[in-house]
Amino acid sequence: MAIVYGGDYNPEQWPREVWAEDMRLMREAGVNRVSLGIFSWAKLEPEEGRFEFDWFDEVIDLLAANGVEICLATPTASPPPWFAATYPEALPVDAEGRRLTHGSRQGFDPSSDVYKTAALRITEQVGRRYHGHPAVKLWHIHNEYGCHNARSHSPAATAKFRLWLRERYGDLDGLNEAWGTAFWSQAYSSWDQVYTPLPTPTIPNPGHVLDFKRFSSWQLLQLYKAEAELLRSIDPDKPMTTNFMTGNHPDIDLWEFAEAVDVVSNDHYLEGPAGHVNLGFAADYTRSLGGGAPWILMEHSTSAVNWQGRNRAKAPRELLRNSFAHLARGADAVMFFQWRASRQGAEKWHSGMVPHVGTDSKIWREVRELGARLGELDEIEGSRVHADAAILWDYQNLWAQEHEAKPTADLDVKAVRESCYAALWRAGITTDVAHPEGDLSGYRLVVVPAVYLMSEAAARNLKHFVASGGTVLVTPYSGIADETDTVYLGGYPGAISDLVGVRTEEFYPLIGETVALASGGTGSVWSEAAEAKGAEVRDTYLDGTPAWTVNRFGEGTAHYLTTFVDDDTLDRVLAAAASDARVEPAADAPVGVEVVRRSHDDGRSWLFCINHTEADTQVKTDTATVDVPAGEVVVHAEHA
Ligand code: GLA
Repeated sequence: MAIVYGGDYNPEQWPREVWAEDMRLMREAGVNRVSLGIFSWAKLEPEEGRFEFDWFDEVIDLLAANGVEICLATPTASPPPWFAATYPEALPVDAEGRRLTHGSRQGFDPSSDVYKTAALRITEQVGRRYHGHPAVKLWHIHNEYGCHNARSHSPAATAKFRLWLRERYGDLDGLNEAWGTAFWSQAYSSWDQVYTPLPTPTIPNPGHVLDFKRFSSWQLLQLYKAEAELLRSIDPDKPMTTNFMTGNHPDIDLWEFAEAVDVVSNDHYLEGPAGHVNLGFAADYTRSLGGGAPWILMEHSTSAVNWQGRNRAKAPRELLRNSFAHLARGADAVMFFQWRASRQGAEKWHSGMVPHVGTDSKIWREVRELGARLGELDEIEGSRVHADAAILWDYQNLWAQEHEAKPTADLDVKAVRESCYAALWRAGITTDVAHPEGDLSGYRLVVVPAVYLMSEAAARNLKHFVASGGTVLVTPYSGIADETDTVYLGGYPGAISDLVGVRTEEFYPLIGETVALASGGTGSVWSEAAEAKGAEVRDTYLDGTPAWTVNRFGEGTAHYLTTFVDDDTLDRVLAAAASDARVEPAADAPVGVEVVRRSHDDGRSWLFCINHTEADTQVKTDTATVDVPAGEVVVHAEHA
């Protein structure tokens, strides 16, 4: 089978005459699949209960006649204006209690039953009409759950939050204990007293806020499941997905969503100068969410996006490097938002496969080249990426750390994860992303980036991993509180103090300063009064306080840092941990040259070499030397 290639197709934005040209250009570019109907609700149901499908029939038949398969969306991410006008109570309410209005997208309250009814009605219509169409290969449910409206404070949300809490804690005693309401006289004596976290005079209860984030994610998942269940009853065998945002989306728990989809798909957009490194994380995380199975890159951009402060066009060949990096890390589909750049609307400055300027353009030439190259890589479809290393990542930990009252406002868990992942990327170590309670038995090295919220089960999991011979690299602010955000006692990091062989009495966050290390490196953001309790001290602050410790634990080894070290120092620490773990890069490549291997069980394998530098270079494996020109991608078949 072919690698899937295409993008979001929004023909309703264009006059009919353009559709024929779209088909011709899709053939020219080698497009074999589009996502259709994502934002078509208003055109499919212009008034409540009145459906217009003729135009959609035409588009679907046109695509089919041109050999383009369809990933058919339920258009429920953007209810039409009639919905807001008829059911204003179904609009989301923000944390200040303001009811939002129509005029953008995702204008619905996730807890609204009125919304759910309307969403299921259009889903059923689309499902019944097109499930048997031979070109429809996959259901694309909704679009980016929680992208804009994850947390609503409507009366409906309040009522459902209470029910969710009852289910979780059984009774008010359970709730009061979990939230620690003995503090500041917050004990609840009736469920009616519990609201979504609204503005308070000062610091709100952390357990309350964290549970609201969990509830909000769960509520969106119920909407996914309702649509999926309905479609399943109409079309039992077709796979379903919804597009995640593993790169930067903090509002839904993707580990939970991933269990509900048949195939994992992801949207990724570059941010900042090291965007291609974050791309690696996002792709690795997407693959890991699906347990290593090939996945769908549902959206990325051919060039600029429209929602950043400054939206830079991609450099020549960057489109190709980005696309191949996703492919290298396990995608079997490379798709873009969107086919044709819009002339109007909120995203008119977002690039497309067909840019405003037309086909005499860098973008179109690269789109065609990509299509042609993917067309020659059929064999790769279904192959997998193997990783000996994993980095832990969990949304609930992120949400807990968003709370305002903490040792330092400078500690950003996302930045910690990014810096740890960047070190793995620089070292060329292929990495999975694992849940703290997930199965770690397939790994030899696990990186623990500020996993502050660590359940007892997660702590046991890590200890079991190391005791059985694994190596961990743990950063500060890990293992501090359990899943109710209750601090572990007896010395930090309380959940894993025995694992790392360190006991810390107090934290000394750094305030605009750095701490010098005996090795010559520096630490920033954080320092702590750590004492080695059995661990070997490899590096110290100048006053002798341990900065880097190594502890033997059972058959394995735990590296622990007590400050956030500079990149060179982190590279050294990671190299030591990787050597303990006997983990090696996919190939021998200079920094800035990305190397990842995909292989089939039968021994066929490909080394993807992506040169992000401006110098021609070579990548070496045990059996080959591969020339990789500046800025280029080489896919090297390693089998005969
Ligand atoms: C998301 C959405 C698309 C589009 C792009 C623009 O990924 O799913 O509809 O808005 O962002 O970057």
